[in-house]
Formats: sequence, C-alpha cells, structure tokens
Amino acid sequence: MEKVHKLLAKDKKSVAELNKEEAAAELEYLAAEIARADNAYYQNDAPDLTDAEYDLLKHRNAEIEKLFPDLVRADSPSKRVGSEVLSKFGKIEHRFPMLSLGDVFSLDEVDDFVMSVKRFLNTPENITFMAEPKIDGLSFSARYENGIFVSGATRGDGVTGEDITANLKTIKQLPLKLPHGVPDILEVRGEVYMAKNDFFALNEKALAEHTKIFANPRNAAAGSLRQLDARITAERNLSIWAYTWGEVSSRQWQTQEEFFIKLKEWGFPVNPLNKLCSTLDEIEDNFQHIMEIRADLPYDIDGVVYKVNSIDLQNRLGFLTRTPRWAIAHKFPAEQALTRIVNIRVQVGRTGALTPVADLEPVNVGGVIVSHATLHNEDEIARKDIRIGDMVVVQRAGDVIPQIVEVKLDKRPAEAKPFVFPNVCPECGAHAIREENEAIRRCTGGLTCPAQAKERLKHFVSKDAFDIVGFGDKVVEEFFAEGILHNPADIFTLEERNKNNADDLFAHNTDKGLELEKRNGWGKLSVNNLFAAINQRRQITLPRFIYALGIPQVGSATALLLAKNYGSFDALQKDMCAKETAKLVAIDGIGGEMAKDIAEFFGEEHNLKVIAELRQYVEVENYVNDEVTDSLLSGKTVVFTGTLTSLTRGEAKALAQRFGAKVAGSVSSHTDFVVVGADAGSKAKKAAELGITILSEDDFIQMTR
Ligand code: IVH
Repeated sequence: MEKVHKLLAKDKKSVAELNKEEAAAELEYLAAEIARADNAYYQNDAPDLTDAEYDLLKHRNAEIEKLFPDLVRADSPSKRVGSEVLSKFGKIEHRFPMLSLGDVFSLDEVDDFVMSVKRFLNTPENITFMAEPKIDGLSFSARYENGIFVSGATRGDGVTGEDITANLKTIKQLPLKLPHGVPDILEVRGEVYMAKNDFFALNEKALAEHTKIFANPRNAAAGSLRQLDARITAERNLSIWAYTWGEVSSRQWQTQEEFFIKLKEWGFPVNPLNKLCSTLDEIEDNFQHIMEIRADLPYDIDGVVYKVNSIDLQNRLGFLTRTPRWAIAHKFPAEQALTRIVNIRVQVGRTGALTPVADLEPVNVGGVIVSHATLHNEDEIARKDIRIGDMVVVQRAGDVIPQIVEVKLDKRPAEAKPFVFPNVCPECGAHAIREENEAIRRCTGGLTCPAQAKERLKHFVSKDAFDIVGFGDKVVEEFFAEGILHNPADIFTLEERNKNNADDLFAHNTDKGLELEKRNGWGKLSVNNLFAAINQRRQITLPRFIYALGIPQVGSATALLLAKNYGSFDALQKDMCAKETAKLVAIDGIGGEMAKDIAEFFGEEHNLKVIAELRQYVEVENYVNDEVTDSLLSGKTVVFTGTLTSLTRGEAKALAQRFGAKVAGSVSSHTDFVVVGADAGSKAKKAAELGITILSEDDFIQMTR
C-alpha cells in the first residue's frame, strides 16, 4: 500500500520523464497491483483502494502504454478493456452443444416432469433436484486451458456461437486465471446479465446523450456484450452467474451441488438462491418463495430451472433433440412487453363472430416472440382507446392468446389512427350485425361465408373434436381453397373420391379422382396416413361429436353435460327439433342464453343437412356414464401432496374427480382427505395438525376400486 501511495503522490515522475527501463518496471508493478485490487474487489468483496485511487492507477498505466507501446504486457490491465474493433464476430464451434431447456408453466407439469424422470430411470426413489433461478440474460461459454481464460462464446444456434473473447474479458467478475488444480481443459458456462440499477443508469445516460434506449435489462446486456468494439462492453456494467459446464478434461464433481462449490472456489459468482429440493412440496415452496422475492432481486429472472442433482443420473437420462431430459425450466406466469400496433384487422370465427386482432411489431414476451394480440371486440378497442400506431403493453400468460393491457398514451404518435369497425363481413361482404346486449358483431353469411365454413372445418378436425391426426389448419385451408372440401361430411368421402377410376380400362368413367398423392408436398404414404387417420374416426364418442359440430357457446365441458343428460345423439336432436328445451335449461351448467343458441343451431336447415350427411359415414356412440356417484370419495375434498409413485398428479386428480371428489390445492378445515406421497412437507404437517384423514397413495387407489 505504501508503494501505491508513493505512486499516487504528487511528486511522482511525470510519464514523459520516464526512461524505458523505469517505464517497464512501473508497468510490471501496475499490472500486479491492479490485478491484486481487482481480486480484492471482485473475488473477496473487500476493496482496498478507493475508486479514485484505482482509476489513477489505470490512468497511469494507460499513459505509460501510450508512450511505450512496445512495452505493453500480455497481462496488462488494459487488456481487460478490449481495444480492437472487429468488423464482425468470429465463429466458435462448441465442442459440446449449448442446449436450451423445455418450458413448463404449472406445478402439475413439473410433477409430470419429475414422474417422467423417475419412469425413465425406473425407480420409485425420490430424485433430488437443484432448483436455480432462471436468469434473464444471455448464456456464455468461457474456455480455460491450464487455468487461463483462452476464449469465450455466445450460445448462437447451440452448435456454433460468436467469438466474444474480448468482450467477456472486460467483465470483471469473470476470473481470467484459475487456481492450481483445475482441470486442464474446462469450459464454464453461465449467464451474462445487466443488474437492474445498471440498466436504469445506462438508460438515463442514453436519454441525456440521445443514444439508444434499451427496452429491458436483457436487451441491454445483449447489446452491450455483442459489441464489435469491446471498449463499449467495458463501459457497461455487466455481471455473470455461472451454472453449468461444457467440455472438461476430467470432471472433479459428482453432483450439481459439488460443481457449485468448485465454481465458488475458483472465483466464479454462483447464485446464492440455488437450492436443493427433494420433494414436490419443496419445489413448490421454493417456487413460491422465488416468485415473492422476484421483484426485489437486483436482476431479472423469468422462472426456476430444475436439474437432476446427480451427474450419473443426468448421464443416464441424456438428451432429447435440443433439450436435456434431466432439466426443465418452470416459467413465471404472465409476462409483459412494450411494442407497437402496426395494423388492426378483423377475423371471422366459425360462428361468424368478428374478432379484431392487432398486428404487432414482433416482441419477445417472456421468451416467446409475439406478433399478434386479440382485441376481443369493438367496445374493448373504444374503452382502451386503442389506435393503429400506438405503443402498447402486451401480456402473455401460459398458452393463452396475447392481450393488450394498456396503451402508452405519452408515446402516441401524431399519426396514430383510430380504427373504424366494419359493419359488413370482411370475408364475404354479408351484413355484420350486433344484437342488443351483445358485445360481439357477427357475420350473417352463415355457411355461405367461406371464413365461417373453413373455421368450422378446422374446429371439426381439432384435438378435442374428431382429432384427425395430420389434418391441420394448413390442410383444411388448402383443400377448402381448391373446392375439395366444403363441409365436414366431405372429409369422409375423400378416400372414395380420390380413387383413380381410370385404372379400370373398361370403365366409362374417365374421372381421374382427386389424385391427392400427386400434390405438392404430398405422396402416397402421407395420403394413406391421412386416410387411415380419418378412418379411425368413423366411430366417435357422443361428447366429441357434439363438440365437433361447433354449436355456438358449446365447448368440451358443455358437450359432456349434454352427452350425460341425453345419452344419445338422437335423443338430443329429437328434443331440439321438437323445440323441447325444458330438459336443456334444467341442466345445471346450461343457462338460458346457451339453451337458446343450442336450439337455434338445430333450427337451421343447413345444420341438420350436414348432421344427416355426416351420420351416413360416422357412427356416434351412446354415452356410457362411468362416473361413480356413491364412492367413498363422492362429495369429498381431496388434497394431494408429496411425490406420488404410480400416478402423475394429473392422473390422480382425474381419478379423484371421476369418483366424485373435488381436488383442492391447499389444506384447510374444508379438506376431507390428504393423500400423502413420498417426502411430503408442510401440507402433510398441516393436515395432521387439523386432524384431517391422511391417506397413502395405496389407500387412495383402494378407494377407487
Ligand atoms: S442450464 C442444458 N441454468 O435458460 C442446460 N440455464 O432456456 C443448459 N438460463 O440457454 C442451461 N438461468 O441461457 C441453465 N440456472 C440456469 C439458467 C439457464 C438461465 C438460460 C440459459 C439457457 C436458457 C434455456
């Protein structure tokens, strides 16, 4: 320290007075002193120089180097500041690919993941997972050879990344030299991020200097790291968390937990929130906790990552194409982002409902690129005063269609244009009418409207309806556009119509058939697969058939209610055609408006025609009620906790419901049974305290026998 002070003293020689020898000696001294100060500051969290002193040393070093460029040392502190400006990034091929993670959005899906891990490993034992905050930054890979940092790369496409060696070097948290004893070859991987306060400071500066404003810390981190001029990276405060590895010459750890201990020893920042969890309850509690503290963390996270702790088990589990089987990302529910509305257009649904849709400048909302959002109806547009050209906040939660939360009025451009809702159908030109007390305007074109006909077909073949594999939206669009398909019954005559009658030399019929296999993108195999998928559905359950008809307001749940209450399609149709709606409205769960829609549907001639035609080809099964109404579980409230071994949470829930139980998420005085799996935590404890009957998984299964 004394030496430092001497150096910083006023009477020190000016740089111009130094001779070469003195300059070299001072550079050597400065390199050591600055490295020591860096170490004290970044690795030990115990700075022993003030910022001003530190800056003076760096400045002195730079001045000497300017005058004696040939004396610049390999370990010079100025090398931390990339000085070369590149014209483009070089490429680095990852020896081990940098994979991504599968996403899930609910605890049930995490449970399914845990079950799938166990099933794959064929073990009833509990698996321990490392739960880590999912850092919202960008991943890096840093390669060390004999303990020295030699190169760094972005993830790129997972196989080849960009060479960001110079940029990574400027991140002070990244050690450039590792202690003795590390593997000769070691790639440490993790996330580069910008802390929230650094992000705000950067944007404030940008505002004052009229330079680029970043939308969020992630963008700022990416924009700062991927700089061809690494001096710019050096000016930005970037941070890292290390969490995995790539190539290693000899692995010295058996678990993810041990790896973190090593990383810390080697001087890498490791997130203190990483936590081992052995039960689903621990996973849930940890997720809740992380959600609660999320807003107060100094950096952005977008979920929690679970990794099988044991590396041996990880190796046994291996990989799917692009993601490991041993890890998954549990994402936080709703995500928001700011973007601009570039257009508003109106879509026509299968019941003729006109839905306004906003086309957006594509934006990343919680890891998914969003370019459309629903605007619901014309009142919604008026209520939020949404105009074309507006900047808006879009929100996405799980799989639902993205929505617009608010308009940023202070960002409204002068040319923003109000949207005039059409009163004719944009697809067929028929009048679009909005009934009194209705929020939605509808096209009156019925099945003469091509959009409605097409949407009905898409609905008909969809997953919860006829579920015809390979008959996606694209196929419907294609066949409909070419007049091969008009209504659902046409699907079941496709194979017959496709037959090449010209094979029969003596036939007068010269019809060549549809020749589907000769179409672009089709072949004999795909056509035959399609026919096979169609033929599998010539027999169908009653709820699916009712749902597939696309009766307004009738979703899967209502279709099931109708099936249960009528038992056969004939019974339903008979009542409806006789305008007997008394039974309908008496069903718990079917209101007056819905009953009106159902009756109206059967009142339309063309609907009856389509149904009659369909039933020539399709057998509709009668509904057999397999719900058990007098079981030990009927009317009871059940809570599941801990890891179940022979059922997934989803299966257990469905089973309980079939036996008449309600399934709840938390234990209260209203709970009747708590089914306790392996290693249950707080819920089992609470159940015991409240004196609630506790069942083992086997007890529960017995009750459903
Ligand atoms: S592990 C094979 N751990 O999430 C597993 N990734 O969706 C490789 N991420 O590309 C990744 N925090 O950029 C892992 N604690 C964490 C993470 C994390 C953030 C990012 C990473 C990765 C992406 C996958």
